[in-house]
Amino acid sequence: MRRKLVIGNWKMHGSLEANHALISGLAKALERLSEADKTQVVICPVSVHLAAAAQQLNGLPGQIGLGAQNVSHAASGAYTGEVAASMLAEAGVTLVLVGHSERRELFGEGDALVADKVAAVLDAGMTPVLCVGESLAQRQTGETESVVLRQLNAAVQRVGVEGIARSIVAYEPIWAIGTGETATPEQAQEVHEALRKRLAELDEDLAANTPILYGGSVKASNADALFAQPDIDGGLVGGASLDAEEFSAICASSARSGASA
Ligand code: 13P
Repeated sequence: MRRKLVIGNWKMHGSLEANHALISGLAKALERLSEADKTQVVICPVSVHLAAAAQQLNGLPGQIGLGAQNVSHAASGAYTGEVAASMLAEAGVTLVLVGHSERRELFGEGDALVADKVAAVLDAGMTPVLCVGESLAQRQTGETESVVLRQLNAAVQRVGVEGIARSIVAYEPIWAIGTGETATPEQAQEVHEALRKRLAELDEDLAANTPILYGGSVKASNADALFAQPDIDGGLVGGASLDAEEFSAICASSARSGASA
């Protein structure tokens, strides 16, 4: 059975003080949910706040996990400004976003580098969240499936079925990120199904067990419909994760969905 989860990607927002308050507010909002509405929740603050967030989370009831937004492909060495996977693990991180479209588009990360980062996260004993997704132009020219499968295949080639079995995949259409325009549940399901079909070609168990999250303007108002799709196992949430009440409502949607039952 696949696990369901919701990840909040805080991107480069907030401040130490604001993010402390956001964690407190989120912990309280999640505590108020009924048992049936509880799901696995992970937040990804900016890297320089990770240690403080880890300390705060340790002192809180509930089970909010800690993730990072990026990682170096290298284990150590002369890489000015980079952070190694082992260092993130030391800070209390258990999950790392890899290949987010903002990293690919704004910082020139290609499939080979992203695949190396997936391997680095696995080597450090953490869970990579491999982000894939097409641009609007690629969707309009009918390339959606080939783009996301190419991105997935690059990671498969690098870490094999065994590595992907310890990973999470996130489908984030670039045109739906931060735009308020969400993929319809049917559009998202179509791509999730294609990704799962590819996993099934490699290994049936891999397809059955790998969570595939949807990201791109997920809100409390559209989460139920998205998470009800059979191949959507939860969400990777940007803007709406910066509001504790909104985010906890999205988490409750994920718990209630029959996606992975
Ligand atoms: P938004 O939810 O703000 O569209 O961002 C999605 C995203 O990029 C999560 O990683």
